Amino acid sequence: MQNGKSQLIDKMFSKHFKAKSWAEYNKAFFDGLAKKYDATNKFTSFGTKWILDRKAIAKFQLPQNAKILDLCTGTCDIAIALAKKYPDSQITALDASQPMLDVGIKKLRKAKINNVITIVGDALSLPFPDDFFDLVIISFGLRNLEDVESGLLEMRRVAKSCGLVVNIEYGKPSNFFLKLLYRIYFENIAPAVGKVLFHIGEFNSFRYLPKSNKYFPNQLQLCSIMQKIGFKKIKNHNYFLGVIGQQVCQK
Ligand SMILES: C[S@@+](CC[C@H](N)C(=O)[O-])C[C@H]1O[C@@H](n2cnc3c(N)ncnc32)[C@H](O)[C@@H]1O
Repeated sequence: MQNGKSQLIDKMFSKHFKAKSWAEYNKAFFDGLAKKYDATNKFTSFGTKWILDRKAIAKFQLPQNAKILDLCTGTCDIAIALAKKYPDSQITALDASQPMLDVGIKKLRKAKINNVITIVGDALSLPFPDDFFDLVIISFGLRNLEDVESGLLEMRRVAKSCGLVVNIEYGKPSNFFLKLLYRIYFENIAPAVGKVLFHIGEFNSFRYLPKSNKYFPNQLQLCSIMQKIGFKKIKNHNYFLGVIGQQVCQK
């Protein structure tokens, strides 16, 4: 297990959950958070997540009848945005947590979307053949995997040759003042307000984010990892001056 992950287990998860592995801690965390997840997202993004999702999927174009995999789909926001933009596509939305998917399934029904199937699975061991998808996308999920590089390699394996692989994640802004504001907000304000508004103790995802930021690679480091494992045409797009980063690359 990566050093940062074992620190997170010691400092956060093991106080509240009994589990044998990182994957089990993560599952317990998101199973418990599922019903509040969308509300916490609205809070951290000041209600702008849907705008970000739309902007992010406008950064690439897909062929007709595209096969799409949305990994760590959670409550299916990206799958829904893609299904609306590409109604002829076939989308698989995969997550390790059934309760997160249950929230997503309700949203899919409400939006009358029928080109998305949801499945429970592990992003590090995907039940798909090599060279299968036109797009493999992961949004705010890579930091939750036991190992970033293994996650990207598995995404690469199931993407078609010349298919797209896309990652969207919290980044690290480089501007000094923004960095300071970012730290004050994510390390102090959000955890305190989040605790009062949404959840206490074990499901306080607002504490998880700044803690995991200590070991998670920034945008440039992610691009280097992608290059190292053989992706081509790697592009980084920053949102909110680098608070969020998106990497688009090709197998
Ligand atoms: C922060 S949420 C992101 C949800 C969604 N993509 C979004 O943008 O809101 C992270 C998700 O990753 C899922 N996850 C964590 N580890 C996973 C794994 N190994 N395989 C599949 N899903 C995983 C969690 O269950 C959770 O739903």
